Amino acid sequence: MELFIDSANPEEVIEAYATGMINGVTTNPSLAAKAGIPYKEAVQKIIKAVQGPISLEVLSTEFKGMVEEGRKLIKYGENVVVKIPMTVDGIKATQILKHEGINVNMTLVFSTYQALLAAKAGADYVSPFVGRLDDGGTQGMQMIEEIRQSYDNYGFETKILVASVRSTLHVEESSIYGADVATIPPGVFWKLFEHPLSKLGLEQFLKDFKEAGVEPLV
Ligand code: G3P
Repeated sequence: MELFIDSANPEEVIEAYATGMINGVTTNPSLAAKAGIPYKEAVQKIIKAVQGPISLEVLSTEFKGMVEEGRKLIKYGENVVVKIPMTVDGIKATQILKHEGINVNMTLVFSTYQALLAAKAGADYVSPFVGRLDDGGTQGMQMIEEIRQSYDNYGFETKILVASVRSTLHVEESSIYGADVATIPPGVFWKLFEHPLSKLGLEQFLKDFKEAGVEPLV
């Protein structure tokens, strides 16, 4: 499973990318507002630093505007994936952009039936928002299981990109349910490396070694 970082802040992206565990980046207008530097500059820095797909979202809500924006956004770099919202216009725009060979990530997906439409439209990625469903009292990860089943039933190649990730458990379950990608906010990404027993175990190993006065090998 691939891991993307869900941030438009170049410092956060570059720090996470340096671990070698990050395969791509997703942004959205809310994250752009929190980039910390002008959005254009942030995107240029991220594209320069990261080898892998970078999702940039359109702001238009009608399909002609989405298509025009998409055509312009890909000029930022050959790894740009145009993020299109799940609406009737978004579905129309996705088909046109795909016809032109432009990669699309269909975002704001909250159901298996919306994900089916994204796949039928030819989207490269579908972004189901699990955390926001959880917030509303629905099991977000169940949708991931269902989308996997639905896509496998028909051989759709659209990648399931789990979005609105709020916890390490979301990442863990993404892998169990066969998602292709999880896009992770930096706060959750760094927690993936941690376990209280990893920390305690390391401390104990080093303490035992030191106390016994063992000669180090190197
Ligand atoms: O990139 C879209 C998604 O990950 C947003 O997450 O936490 O705002 O629901 P959140």
